[in-house]
Amino acid sequence: MSSEPAIAAARVPRHLAVIMDGNGRWAERRRRPRVIGHRAGARAVNVCIDFCLEQGIEALTLFAFSSENWGRPEEEVGALMKLFLGALEREVDELDRRGVRVRFIGERERFAEAIRKQMASAEDRTRANTRLHLTVAASYGGRWDIAQAARSLAEDVAAGRLAAEDIDEYALGARTCLAELPPPDLFIRTGGETRISNFLLWQLAYTELWFTDLLWPELDAATLQRAMDDYAGRQRRFGLTGAQVAPAPDRLPATKETSE
Ligand code: IPE
Ligand code: IPE
Ligand code: MG
Repeated sequence: MSSEPAIAAARVPRHLAVIMDGNGRWAERRRRPRVIGHRAGARAVNVCIDFCLEQGIEALTLFAFSSENWGRPEEEVGALMKLFLGALEREVDELDRRGVRVRFIGERERFAEAIRKQMASAEDRTRANTRLHLTVAASYGGRWDIAQAARSLAEDVAAGRLAAEDIDEYALGARTCLAELPPPDLFIRTGGETRISNFLLWQLAYTELWFTDLLWPELDAATLQRAMDDYAGRQRRFGLTGAQVAPAPDRLPATKETSE
């Protein structure tokens, strides 16, 4: 058998990270309150999960609510919390049935007790699932993530469990969120903005970035497929040269001058 299937498989991302942006504008364009956009956005989450399950993507990390989003008008934050709680109650059974493991990253202490309970119960309930690792970043910030990792290292140094000279990028990386997963291969942001907005600052170091003007509630499988196709055509060099990372069959034949 040819080695083609293995090469093709390597071109499907193992881990997809998504900034789900544009809910508010989607609603505003329809002259509806922003919360209607968030409701429509919740439906798009299912489109994305279905796509990952169909494509055999192993991990999906969704940015649902940032550290900075707490600063939005009280009414919008309240509506988002209600939606969040409702989605947790409604979706967990189905996610569990489909073999999805659900986890949350972010500053949980900032959420109300009822939401924290639902998060913990969704995590417990789906702990043994392995088909898709779904991580929801909520009350999450990339800066917070790095700071909490640094604090955890500092606590170990202060307690004499760790020597300061043993702190390197691997030690710090191991204490950031998602350390147990491969780093995201592909990042997608809807909504037209081409920025990271304090998402996974540490983990995205060598992630391929893909942006679309489409608003999150408009998400469909065809758009996700476009991102996949674009990703499949990219060469990831991780700081090396193209020749170093090219699989042998893809290398250009030697030119006449160099081969003679
Ligand atoms: C993303 O959509 C959802 C959250 C940040 C909670 P937005 O609410 O940011 O939508 P826009 O960017 O204002 O359109
Ligand atoms: C990023 O979107 C956060 C989420 C999608 C959860 P924002 O709408 O908060 O980002 P900015 O303000 O446009 O950078
Ligand atoms: Mg936004």
